[in-house]
Amino acid sequence: MRVMVLGGDGFCGWPTALHLSAHGHDVTIVDNLVRRRIDDELGAGSLTPIATPAERLAAWHEVSGNPLGFVELDVAADYHALTELLADERPDAVVHFAEQRAAPYSMKSPAHKRYTVDNNVTATHNVLVALAAVSPGTHLVHLGTMGVYGYESVPADLPEGYLTVTYPDREGRPRSREILYPTRPGSVYHLTKSLDQLLFAFYARNDGLHVTDLHQGIVWGTQTPQTGRDPRLINRFDYDGDFGTVLNRFLVEAAIGHPLTVHGTGGQTRAFININDTVECIRLAVESGDRLDDGRVRVMNQLTQTHRVSDLAGLVSSATGAAIVRVANPRDEADENALAARNDQLLGLGLDPILLTEDLLLAEVGLARRYADRVRRSAIPAVSYWNDSRRTAAATTEPDHSAPAASDIAGGAR
Ligand SMILES: NC(=O)c1ccc[n+]([C@@H]2O[C@H](COP(=O)([O-])OP(=O)(O)OC[C@H]3O[C@@H](n4cnc5c(N)ncnc54)[C@H](O)[C@@H]3O)[C@@H](O)[C@H]2O)c1
Repeated sequence: MRVMVLGGDGFCGWPTALHLSAHGHDVTIVDNLVRRRIDDELGAGSLTPIATPAERLAAWHEVSGNPLGFVELDVAADYHALTELLADERPDAVVHFAEQRAAPYSMKSPAHKRYTVDNNVTATHNVLVALAAVSPGTHLVHLGTMGVYGYESVPADLPEGYLTVTYPDREGRPRSREILYPTRPGSVYHLTKSLDQLLFAFYARNDGLHVTDLHQGIVWGTQTPQTGRDPRLINRFDYDGDFGTVLNRFLVEAAIGHPLTVHGTGGQTRAFININDTVECIRLAVESGDRLDDGRVRVMNQLTQTHRVSDLAGLVSSATGAAIVRVANPRDEADENALAARNDQLLGLGLDPILLTEDLLLAEVGLARRYADRVRRSAIPAVSYWNDSRRTAAATTEPDHSAPAASDIAGGAR
């Protein structure tokens, strides 16, 4: 299949592009490289030394014999270029990762809130409008988040996107209908994913677009068999207080002898998935595009396990001897919650989950130790506060993404 991966230079997008290419798909990456510029803004780069896009593409061609396309394009700002590209390529599937994905970053300041909404909602809407205009048969696979469901404890397993509700009609007879599961976003980032859902529902119904929305858990791990084939293919690994997700942050902390920083009581339960399962789920979603219902978005929960944050810290601590420290929670969230969710659809398509084991955790700590000299300890604490009064004045400056992108992509660009 011909597949376009929007946001294919990022943490999930890069290994997905390689996984799809290794499975015989013809892949073109589209990315504006803004994530690399946010590294500069935050002064905290990837733990792993990531190669330039041109080096990555050349390395993949060398080791696999498969060419990858690359187009530097801002999906939110360059609607006309996006439309032309889709009209030229008419991909069978578009995988859409091209959004600002850090909840803490989205809450840093008024400017970061506005950037996150402008970038994410406009990017998604541009893709939908462009597909409806020039390639309505393309299957859109979007990465959403389990966070749209909110983190209230509910006495049921979260369903996959929809809820059947019953209500009395005017005569008092019971009626029922399916609705999108009510969202309860906990940050501006999660809010954009909730807004994305409505855009998908509208364009599926109005224009007959084929859409799969994957509600993904927090991703842990770094490498896949493909990114491990050459040092130039290494995946990015975020450990900082804005982009570092909880388990990856604990693993880096353990590797450098920093206490594991648990926010609040650590009683928060969250959904997780290993990066190798992420890339496989996306392949399964892409290759099953012929199974969609007309006019209805397919929502699949992309998680394999749920864990309590304090349990994760305990696991990493007992495997590595790291100390645990409780720090004030910068987020506005419940101290404790229960969480269980269905993932029948991806299991039904053949997902064979990778479960968290001490061996896998130690392998990640080993990788982190290899690059420990690249860690900026001052970047580890999460200092984006949800509550305005605790925010520092410095955090109110505008995010500046205007610096020129890595200028050496021409070799691999098309
Ligand atoms: N990492 C996780 O734990 C996680 C969990 C759940 C869902 N997700 C979702 O998966 C997707 C990818 O996440 P990630 O961790 O790979 O993030 P990432 O920041 O590493 O990658 C996103 C990529 O999109 C690009 N991008 C952003 N805006 C763009 C635009 N307007 N035009 C073109 N490119 C743009 C960035 O440059 C970057 O390469 C996100 O939408 C995120 O919400 C991630």
